[in-house]
Amino acid sequence: MMTALSTESGFDLDAVDLTDPRTFVDTDLFALWQRFRTERPVHLHRATAQLPAFWALTRYHDVMSVYKDNQRFTSERGNVLSTLLQGGDSAGGKMLAVTDGPRHREIRNLMLRSFSPRALSHVVEQVRIRTTDLLARALAKGTFDYAAEVAEHIPMGTICDLMAVPPQDRQMLLDWNKQVLSADSADGTDDEAWLARNEILLYFSDLAKARRRNPGDDVISALATGSVGGVPLTEDEIVFNCYSLILGGDESSRMASIGAVLAFIQHPDQWRAFKSGAVGVESTAEEILRWTTPAMHFGRRALVDLEIGGHRIAAGDIVTLWNTSANFDEQVFTDPRAFDLARTPNKHVTFGYGPHFCLGAFLGREELKALLDGLRAQVAEVEQAGPAGRVYSNFLFGYSTLPVTFRPER
Ligand code: HEM
Repeated sequence: MMTALSTESGFDLDAVDLTDPRTFVDTDLFALWQRFRTERPVHLHRATAQLPAFWALTRYHDVMSVYKDNQRFTSERGNVLSTLLQGGDSAGGKMLAVTDGPRHREIRNLMLRSFSPRALSHVVEQVRIRTTDLLARALAKGTFDYAAEVAEHIPMGTICDLMAVPPQDRQMLLDWNKQVLSADSADGTDDEAWLARNEILLYFSDLAKARRRNPGDDVISALATGSVGGVPLTEDEIVFNCYSLILGGDESSRMASIGAVLAFIQHPDQWRAFKSGAVGVESTAEEILRWTTPAMHFGRRALVDLEIGGHRIAAGDIVTLWNTSANFDEQVFTDPRAFDLARTPNKHVTFGYGPHFCLGAFLGREELKALLDGLRAQVAEVEQAGPAGRVYSNFLFGYSTLPVTFRPER
């Protein structure tokens, strides 16, 4: 199909607008990124009347080299296009993902204790129980929206477990979070979203105070009672880092889960290989993470003048890293367009790399593996029952609806 971006001979790379969500819908993204990797691996994206210019890196090794380098690049002035292009992030220097230097390491170490496989064993057990139960309920319906009935309930339930949010408060938190997210769609307003976001921050502030008095082994208690060099974290650091778990862990995990089911539907041979046990859950989960790449890009600001691939990047320039291209780089992945559940090695950059490597990667993987085990044990056949609805974003890739029919395993 021809799109606004394509000409008879392919895409006009100078006309591609990577800030516009429409670019990522109805476009052959495989072909688009392949052209960038081959012809413009270090691309200077043009400025518009409202927005500054920025660099877009699409080759795996270039992307990795920037992820690794928090000496010459910073996340403190934003780490996604939306904040980088606005000139900064209000949580910069307070929230882990947008903090650098020694403070980043100190807060990360403090939070890491709550993210070790041992500390998470109870949370993971709950993920498995929740997943089995949701699949059983969905199977009883037969035909349903997988996004609404299954995928929506797992990540936020898990984050609430991680923070030990009391059961009576959970629905309220879920409602606020939905209001925050609906600002991205047609049916919500920015004002409602702003109010809901503040409600969440206030709620975490109160919960942190309660945990300081009466700590448990959850991540809020770790932040509320934690100190660095004998000095407690600030109120902002505690509250923003609680919120960052929702930001980091909700939508991306949902996109991976929904994308997994769609990928199985679109590749029946791989579904059969998975069901028969010919491929393992570990390599299946990694290939789904590569294939879905829910976070299409992250970004940094250069702190010094430097060079990448023969191009001069100036101090202050915005540099974006396109995971969604790097994960399909033919220099690194054999036959990258094949959805191959047996793929090994599979060193995708879905969780980033280096100092900011995803804190929730273990948990994200466990959520996916619980789904895979559930699908293998409980579901005999999966079929699409209507068109999948795409998420409209320049950051998140995936689907917000996926009508399916599941037939139960006897
Ligand atoms: C960081 C992706 C799940 C919390 C990141 C980064 C990526 C990523 C690419 C690096 C950002 C950067 O370099 O600027 C994903 C994907 C997930 C997922 C694709 C699901 C499939 C989770 C979960 C949580 C989480 C479940 C928590 C419950 C975080 C946090 C950071 C982070 C706190 C910041 C780490 C730091 O800056 O040191 N994530 N994530 N993520 N993620 Fe995830």
